[in-house]
Amino acid sequence: MSRERRGLYGVVALLALILGGGTLLAEGSSTPTWRDDIKPLLCKRCLSCHGEVSTMGCRVLERYRDLCEGEQPPARAGDLSSPFLRVLVEEQAADEAGPDHRLLVDEDQAALIEAWIQAGCPRD
Ligand code: HEC
Repeated sequence: MSRERRGLYGVVALLALILGGGTLLAEGSSTPTWRDDIKPLLCKRCLSCHGEVSTMGCRVLERYRDLCEGEQPPARAGDLSSPFLRVLVEEQAADEAGPDHRLLVDEDQAALIEAWIQAGCPRD
């Protein structure tokens, strides 16, 4: 086999490895991301109230920047006491508005959000 040919196989193998790894990430076996994990979850469970066209005067949580940027963002990188996680796992204070958010997600979904915050709230 020519040296060039062998080099080419090496590149192809490396590409397969990278692309394969990307697929694994998308399946959630590694660090969760906003794009692949958090956004779809919000769409399913949260945006009926926290969407751009909000129906209950709730805080908008539709885009990455609504959740992670600005003053007092609901999700703070590495901070497990962030409101985004807290409302989903802790008992609601008597004076807190809104539904009991713990009923809105299951354990796996709460764990996913926890892992995402712990990983620093990666975007994609
Ligand atoms: C039935 C409507 C409804 C749904 C569905 C809902 N929420 Fe809420 N949520 C509220 C209301 C009302 C409040 C109190 C007002 C506010 O702070 O926006 C609230 C408050 C919050 C807060 C506190 C905001 C803050 O900074 O103190 C967070 C975080 C939150 N919700 C996240 C979520 C997430 C995540 C989901 C989806 C798993 C969700 N909510 C689904 C109605 C809802």
